[in-house]
Amino acid sequence: MSAPFVSGPPLRRPGPGRSCASLRRAGPTRGEHRHRKPSPPGQAPSRSAKAASCPPGRGDPVVGGGASYGRVGRLPVRVGPAPSGRTYCRAHPVNDDAGGQFVKTRGAVVKQAPGKYEVVDLEVEDPRQNELQVTMTASGLCHSDDHIATGDIPVGVYPFCGGHEGSGVVSAVGPNTVGFKEGDHVVFSFLPACGHCTWCARGMSNLCDLGAGLLAGSRWEDPTSYRLSMDGQPVGQMCGISTFSQVTTVAVDSAVKIPDDIPLEKACLVGCGVGTGWGSAVNSAEVAPGDTVIVMGIGGIGINAVQGAAMAGASNVIAVDPVAFKREKAQELGATHAVESMEEATELAKSFTNGQGADSAIVTVGVTKGEHLGQAMASIRKAGTVVVTGLGDMTEVGAPVSLADITLFQKRIQGSLFGASNPKTDILKMLRLYTDGKLKLDELVTRTYTLDEIAQGYEDMHAGKNLRGVVVY
Ligand SMILES: NC(=O)c1ccc[n+]([C@@H]2O[C@H](COP(=O)([O-])OP(=O)(O)OC[C@H]3O[C@@H](n4cnc5c(N)ncnc54)[C@H](O)[C@@H]3O)[C@@H](O)[C@H]2O)c1
Ligand SMILES: [Zn+2]
Ligand SMILES: [Zn+2]
Repeated sequence: MSAPFVSGPPLRRPGPGRSCASLRRAGPTRGEHRHRKPSPPGQAPSRSAKAASCPPGRGDPVVGGGASYGRVGRLPVRVGPAPSGRTYCRAHPVNDDAGGQFVKTRGAVVKQAPGKYEVVDLEVEDPRQNELQVTMTASGLCHSDDHIATGDIPVGVYPFCGGHEGSGVVSAVGPNTVGFKEGDHVVFSFLPACGHCTWCARGMSNLCDLGAGLLAGSRWEDPTSYRLSMDGQPVGQMCGISTFSQVTTVAVDSAVKIPDDIPLEKACLVGCGVGTGWGSAVNSAEVAPGDTVIVMGIGGIGINAVQGAAMAGASNVIAVDPVAFKREKAQELGATHAVESMEEATELAKSFTNGQGADSAIVTVGVTKGEHLGQAMASIRKAGTVVVTGLGDMTEVGAPVSLADITLFQKRIQGSLFGASNPKTDILKMLRLYTDGKLKLDELVTRTYTLDEIAQGYEDMHAGKNLRGVVVY
């Protein structure tokens, strides 16, 4: 593994006699980056390491909203137009949005879609107010990041650094930022929760209004401001976090502090796969004791829907996957039956329910299409529920679903985002279930990879070899 930090110089001060006007005329200035000393693997870089003097060197400016950022002494200085439209100069530094200091990192980006993840050198900006910098420990390889690479899910800017299921150690805290300190262990929530919008106030913080900016790649409060860059160009951050970067800067809204004694390599999974799958069964399907539940697609999400359905007391948990390895794993983790097709699953469900059908069917297929929804609808009983958790081509519209079935049989189609879980409370709840021995995390990790092996990780996912592949930094 290469070190996330390299030594480097403090930022160059603009020479004497350069006026605000001349700086403005000069446009974006080439800044020299202030770099940090490497920290031992798995250990957060200390602030004193960051402040250590560095040999002279040069770097590229980071562009955010048309401005390049620098720092003179302790004061952040931005030269060029700020995102707000104001122009700052060295003589009149302002401290209202901090930032401007960078560390080197490496991260997996897609440069266009369709494309593949490739590992490149990046720069990550220091945290501003209400932000944290985190040195990553682990990142799960969720299918949603593959949707970014295939173009199923379009994003706001390329290059785009992927990853949204991660954990790590806080290595810097922004100014005037409460609730976190250096050294804290955190799991990211791929959905930020602000705590005060209508949805957060209703206890549905997975639907927080901040989610609107999730795929833009920039900061939600300022769509022109980015925290990652490559060769001076902005790099988008997946869900505002980019867990495929060795070091990342995130909003506090995206981080959940967890107890230090929970292994971070496993804890990362609750940030997406576990929360989404488990919640799809427990919250969205509202599985009750004695139920018959079908889970369609046994990847990192579906396997946790299996765990959730079993924990909620379902009598029959029928796992469906064309891959034999997945069916085997599903039975180890709570499925009572495992079959290759929805036809078989539907027949089985009817045989357990006097011909009625499953109480619920949860769709967690890797590339979900309308036809999968149609099959799931045909498998459930009157007033049963189909939970749609899987994603596919975002432009696809429609599914072969009988309208008469919906009306006359009162069937329900229920979408599920992060399993309708509340990240700030449910991530900790799921980790409690893990430490209680009730929720399995260790068994979900089929193989670990280095960051450089990420493309292999996704090949293995497509080949059906992994329940979950995890990059360990
Ligand atoms: N709603 C959310 O909040 C949310 C969050 C994360 C991921 N997702 C989505 O959930 C889906 C699953 O993600 P994953 O990481 O588990 O993917 P994965 O690739 O690990 O697993 C998908 C599984 O579906 C199986 N499959 C394919 N076709 C099938 C079919 N016709 N019938 C049954 N099984 C089939 C595959 O063999 C595979 O085992 C993806 O679309 C992902 O983008 C949604
Ligand atoms: Zn995910
Ligand atoms: Zn909110």
